[in-house]
Amino acid sequence: MKHLLIVYHSQSGNTQRMAEAALAGATNELITETEVRLLRAADAKPEDLLWAEGLLLGTPENFGYMSGGMKDFLDRTFYQVEGQILSLPYAIFISAGNDGSGALRAIRRIANGYPFKEVQEPVIAQGEVTDEHLGSCEELGMTLAAGLEAGIF
Ligand SMILES: Cc1cc2nc3c(=O)[nH]c(=O)nc-3n(C[C@H](O)[C@H](O)[C@H](O)COP(=O)(O)O)c2cc1C
Repeated sequence: MKHLLIVYHSQSGNTQRMAEAALAGATNELITETEVRLLRAADAKPEDLLWAEGLLLGTPENFGYMSGGMKDFLDRTFYQVEGQILSLPYAIFISAGNDGSGALRAIRRIANGYPFKEVQEPVIAQGEVTDEHLGSCEELGMTLAAGLEAGIF
């Protein structure tokens, strides 16, 4: 089995809905060889990152940056996994009031250090999270899981 980790932070539920859509995609009945773990950022530990062979990170944009909860997860895990992760395939989803670019830039910058390798375009919901956004997150989850199974990433 391959291992896909989905870590998200959400205060008012929008990013959580995106995370749940990604989970639905990653656990689609066509996916048979990938185990998926969905965790709130506050509950995710270095061991979860070491378990993962693929990663989805979801955050709201707060004050032009990733949320404090997501930053805390990255702060808590970096030194614990340093040198033990070669290049973890990952992708990002963001819920933003009207932008999202600051959160995206911040995650990408930190991800280089782990290192994580971005393997899919990010999904950014600007404003209300629509069914289309949720569909894109579902597709993102399925693509990561299927890609891990197929050994593409
Ligand atoms: C403290 C705070 C700061 C925010 N700053 C931004 C921002 O800089 N840019 C933006 O586009 N949206 C901003 N927003 C809006 C959130 O990104 C948006 O409401 C998002 O959907 C919240 O996601 P959540 O429901 O998962 O918490 C901010 C919201 C809060 C609570």
